[in-house]
Amino acid sequence: MKNNPLPRLDQSEQQLKKQLLPYCRLHPGEIWEDEISGHRVGCLDATDSAAITELMGKERAKLAIHDPPYNVAVFDVQHVSEFIDWCQRWVSLTYNVLASDASIYIWIGADQNNGFQPLPDFMIMMRGQRFLSKSFITMRNQRGYGTQKNWMAVRQELLYYVKGAPKFNVAYTDIPKVLRGYYKTVKGEVTENLQRSKSENIRASNVWVDIQQVFYRMEENVSGCYAQKPLKSIERIIGSSSDLHDLVIDYFSHSGTTLLASEILNRRCFTVDVDPVFAEITIRRLEHFRATGRTGWQNGNPFEHDAIEFNTGENQANLHETSSIDPLPVQNVLL
Ligand SMILES: C[S@@+](CC[C@H](N)C(=O)[O-])C[C@H]1O[C@@H](n2cnc3c(N)ncnc32)[C@H](O)[C@@H]1O
Repeated sequence: MKNNPLPRLDQSEQQLKKQLLPYCRLHPGEIWEDEISGHRVGCLDATDSAAITELMGKERAKLAIHDPPYNVAVFDVQHVSEFIDWCQRWVSLTYNVLASDASIYIWIGADQNNGFQPLPDFMIMMRGQRFLSKSFITMRNQRGYGTQKNWMAVRQELLYYVKGAPKFNVAYTDIPKVLRGYYKTVKGEVTENLQRSKSENIRASNVWVDIQQVFYRMEENVSGCYAQKPLKSIERIIGSSSDLHDLVIDYFSHSGTTLLASEILNRRCFTVDVDPVFAEITIRRLEHFRATGRTGWQNGNPFEHDAIEFNTGENQANLHETSSIDPLPVQNVLL
């Protein structure tokens, strides 16, 4: 079996990033345009108004899905208030490039080992924006992290807001309905809940327990990436809050999950990452999918055809346990 994963890019030596840079087609400030579906990938800063204006041109998006970094160790922000000020900049830039009826979803992580919990501050900041709050979703991971001195962290928070009054398409899980007996009289006949259901499966709620978090054995795994969201979660968002051919934006691309989900569901996607390596991985993931039908590299990596000798060092031992989990110290991962 192939076993050629890339070390986690946040934990590897800068040397590895330096090795990869010559293989990255975008320099900071540049935008790649896909000739097949019209997607765009920028190596841009989400808070740079001029760069975002250039990315969007005259286009307006129906849906934004943002997954900002939050970890104080990888992000140069020390205080929640600084993080919130930074968030406010890309949130207001997003408002301006959304259509009059559009949705925005934001993943807000926490680093409980360092006491970094920006969720309440973020929600208060959002009250001052022109978005209307619609829901607050929790996605439950199967595996968690944390020390024995605290509750194991398994939740991922996802906030849902709207601009105007966008359409919402109901989504169903893969979980069959089993509870029966909610009787109601319809047109004089006593019916039971399963008779009245639109689906045999349970409707997706604001607690998601049916989505597998990404780990190294999954086809969609993109080794090197440390914060990859499951494709299924992004597909659920896109399916519920956009229609065919709509434009979706994501300003924190990383492994390119939103771009790939948009391609699969026949939407267009404009996405950016400030890091040329992640912008390149995003483009390669799309190209790899088109060439092979695969959604990731499982035990390979996005640069495997470039014959680079990776400087793996001690990271090799940690590859399988931490890939695709939010950036936290390896020793805190629980199985
Ligand atoms: C949490 S990850 C996003 C994960 C993504 N949802 C996925 O499924 O792969 C955050 C990404 O934001 C990028 N980033 C950090 N600061 C940024 C900025 N100012 N502008 C654009 N991207 C930024 C990081 O390089 C990182 O790849």
